Amino acid sequence: MYGAYIEGFMEEKDSVVQEMEQYAAQHYVPIMENDAIDAFLGLLTIQQPTAILEIGSAIGYSAIRMAQRLPEASIVTIERDAERFEKAVQFIDAAGCQERIRIIEADALAQEADVVVDKTYDALFIDAAKGQYRRFFDKYSPAIESKGVIYCDNMFMHGMVLQEEQDIPKRKRTMIRKLKEFTHWLMSHPDYETTLLPIGDGLLVAVKK
Ligand SMILES: C[S@@+](CC[C@H](N)C(=O)[O-])C[C@H]1O[C@@H](n2cnc3c(N)ncnc32)[C@H](O)[C@@H]1O
Repeated sequence: MYGAYIEGFMEEKDSVVQEMEQYAAQHYVPIMENDAIDAFLGLLTIQQPTAILEIGSAIGYSAIRMAQRLPEASIVTIERDAERFEKAVQFIDAAGCQERIRIIEADALAQEADVVVDKTYDALFIDAAKGQYRRFFDKYSPAIESKGVIYCDNMFMHGMVLQEEQDIPKRKRTMIRKLKEFTHWLMSHPDYETTLLPIGDGLLVAVKK
């Protein structure tokens, strides 16, 4: 509701970021929306992570925005779609972020992605297949340090979490059920302080105790 109002105060984005937004719109690539990424970057600015792991790079938009906002941070990001991966590599180079963003072409749930957990991180951003959030969490949360933060995007799935099952398209029902189960499970997990924020499409923020 206040998206346009908030955007009115935002600084002008650099040419690479603008180009990425145009590319995403033209090619139907789902990237974080303006007000959502702005609020997310605000949270990261408070947290000041120095090592971030992202699941779901798409064309590298959120990774580049994080790198620009947090000059001390290094980012590892995983993308399984070959075309998006290639585009992300190009944009990361164009933004001059190749030293700070390591992008890996892999299915994050496959063994090929295990290399990323040879180190620890203080932030994990899960923004990939929505029905698999629990599996991403189980695989990658052990790599997050105590006091580290796990962020998960699209927890409202554009309002579908509020709909009755029969009103949700059939092919999306299992995914929505799993997303809601994951939300419930993490909100009551004793090892995390978890908050579901009405930012963008719903941002779950879990601080590891
Ligand atoms: C919502 S987009 C990510 C947007 C990006 N974080 C941003 O805001 O700029 C989700 C991406 O996750 C990727 N993805 C989905 N499941 C994945 C998996 N198991 N492993 C790696 N990438 C995956 C998709 O190909 C898609 O490009």
